[in-house]
Amino acid sequence: MKRYSHPRIKPPFFKNPLLFCICVFSVCSVKAQNTDIPIETQNTALVLQTDRNNGPHIVYFGKKLKNKSEYDLVQSMYEQNMDYTGIANSPYTPAGSRNLFEPAIEVTHADGNNSLDLKFISAKTEKISDDISLTSVLLKDPVYDFQVTLFYKIYFKENVVEQWSEIKNNEKGNVTLHKFASANLYLQGKSFYLKQYHGDWAQEMHPEEEQITHGIKTLDSKLGTRADLFQPPVFMVSVNQSSNEDNGEVLLGSVEWSGNYRTDLELDNKNNLRIISGINNYASDYPLEPGKIFTTAKFLYTVSYSGTGDASRQLQRWARDYKLLDGNGSRLTLLNNWESTYFNFDEEKLKQLFNDTKKLGVNLFLLDDGWFGNKYPRNNDRAGLGDWQENKKKIPNGIASLIKEANADGVQFGIWLEPEMVNPKSELYEKHPDWVIRQPKRPEYYFRNQLELDLSNPKVQDFVFGVIDSLFIKNPGLAYIKWDCNAVIYNAYHSYENNQSKLYVDYVQGLYSVLKHIRAKYPTVPMMLCSGGGGRVDYGALQYFTEYWPSDNTDPLERIFIQWEYSYFYPAIASSNHVTDWGQQPLKYRVDVAMMGKLGFDIPVSKLSEKDLAFCQSAVKIYNSFKNIVWHGDQYRLQSPWTNDVAAIIYVDSTKSSAVVFNYLVNNRYNTGSALPVHFKGLDANRKYKIKEINLYPGTHSTLKENAIYSGDFLMTVGFNPGVNADRPSVVLMVEEVD
Ligand code: DGJ
Repeated sequence: MKRYSHPRIKPPFFKNPLLFCICVFSVCSVKAQNTDIPIETQNTALVLQTDRNNGPHIVYFGKKLKNKSEYDLVQSMYEQNMDYTGIANSPYTPAGSRNLFEPAIEVTHADGNNSLDLKFISAKTEKISDDISLTSVLLKDPVYDFQVTLFYKIYFKENVVEQWSEIKNNEKGNVTLHKFASANLYLQGKSFYLKQYHGDWAQEMHPEEEQITHGIKTLDSKLGTRADLFQPPVFMVSVNQSSNEDNGEVLLGSVEWSGNYRTDLELDNKNNLRIISGINNYASDYPLEPGKIFTTAKFLYTVSYSGTGDASRQLQRWARDYKLLDGNGSRLTLLNNWESTYFNFDEEKLKQLFNDTKKLGVNLFLLDDGWFGNKYPRNNDRAGLGDWQENKKKIPNGIASLIKEANADGVQFGIWLEPEMVNPKSELYEKHPDWVIRQPKRPEYYFRNQLELDLSNPKVQDFVFGVIDSLFIKNPGLAYIKWDCNAVIYNAYHSYENNQSKLYVDYVQGLYSVLKHIRAKYPTVPMMLCSGGGGRVDYGALQYFTEYWPSDNTDPLERIFIQWEYSYFYPAIASSNHVTDWGQQPLKYRVDVAMMGKLGFDIPVSKLSEKDLAFCQSAVKIYNSFKNIVWHGDQYRLQSPWTNDVAAIIYVDSTKSSAVVFNYLVNNRYNTGSALPVHFKGLDANRKYKIKEINLYPGTHSTLKENAIYSGDFLMTVGFNPGVNADRPSVVLMVEEVD
């Protein structure tokens, strides 16, 4: 059966090439019945079309067609079940009228009526740069004075789309938003496969993949803060068959929101997949006053027809160019003291650590948790959070003098903060109990002995901004911030607002307003996004941060898996990888794994043997020589740790003239190793490359032929054997073009 029985009028948009050109190169506005709105990237197209009643539909979502006029023919090729609603493929499904599926938006109007219908009014496309354009589509309810504008921001070359909506109440009284998704996609295919992630502390990014069955699969968080602890917002959907690195049609998606999110994947009666994603509406009925606009979070996705590797490179490139703070810049290597001292340090110890930082040859010393609180000193995690004054016993001369000392050693100084939180044992809690998220009539319940401050309250926002601001005012030499967030929200209640349903959304808005304020005043200072490990890694936050902390689990074997999975969604330059004492692997293995991102150390340097220290010192120098390839190059996953004895990853610079290859033994059974060559990717088949093993442990020698030369063709077709085995469990190769 044909999906639309409505007669179609050929839209002027495609018929008239001149009109199309005008639209592409300037602001284009279309107002017509039976309008086609193609939203195209370099390789993909999402085509909206209105029916004769001005109802909007997604009529195509797939590979871009050469001839735009053929989008009109797509639906005539489908003979699927009946769409009883006529709006199953709505680009923003309204609840309460004809809809029978999961809605994108659900409201109660000012008069108490629950129905919503959304009709197409107009659309326009604005060209923002050579690469970016923004299409907005205005929809209105024909009965109620209520409108939604859908936004599609296109990153053409990267095949990335950001979608969000603005919901406007023009009615005379308050409207309540019960659901307010960012985006509503509609995919047609034989079958769909969902790769999703789950985890817990130190177990981030565990993947699971399954074929999507009928009904709804929901990925969500209700944790409030540290929202990704059990389930991060990233996912992949493959069409027709499960994708692999180099093959398959795959969508990588995520919500840009640092709180409760929700993604529903609904396989409908026509066997089509509806993806509805955005802020979680859980406990969050949101009031919208007359004349006010609610802007949803952004839903982000990229689509590739050449597998997950290509999709991830698109996303990584997009993040570096457009989202991550200073995504194409440089990063500081560092020594962190968390695992070498925990809360137990003083000025003497810190001076020694500055010296160790210098000895290692890294850029910065990062002072972690435990430096603050006096009435309730932060000597463990049960007290002091909120009291951001230097602890007089531990650092009597203050941060300023620490910075001076560190700088005298040629080392920069950074500091840990957890400014959204409070311990009940703190002066802040005593002074401002009304600033704390807690149920007034119920006992408090703690996560790591702490509670959240109510960031929906502007006074609390000012306080949190003030914590950072006064640190910088007093200590202009401060070079780095690690921003932690260790608790989830229990007992969600804020005394600032009567309407408790606003808390989860307003908290995140409050957090963003603080971060915006910080970035307006301190635009470049590097900041690490940390949340008891990777409890808050998302692009809503990462636009304010230069890097994130993937996990407290720094066992290198574990990290290979964790970093592998994160890398589908986030670029290596953002991944903070520290060498610690976790795990059973040799020091070289730990360092090699940490090099696949932003290298740091968190080990007692003074206790290293002479050889270990010499190795670390030389490793830092070697890392500095190739870090730009890892940070700014293209990453190709060569052999997965999930299915191979040896995991391998290559980073190739943009000119394809140099690359670094990391190879790791991930199975310790008898006689395992690189029996077969590893097939390289991303090189130029017509060029010649010299291969050299680097980062060897002192006193060891490479078993590989020194500086052997191969063509790119050979390396990518036959491959190269890195000689990984139990004696050489990690091998790093430098690949350089030769004439
Ligand atoms: C959790 C972080 O993930 C750790 O790196 C460390 O900063 C601790 N918090 C400090 O309390």
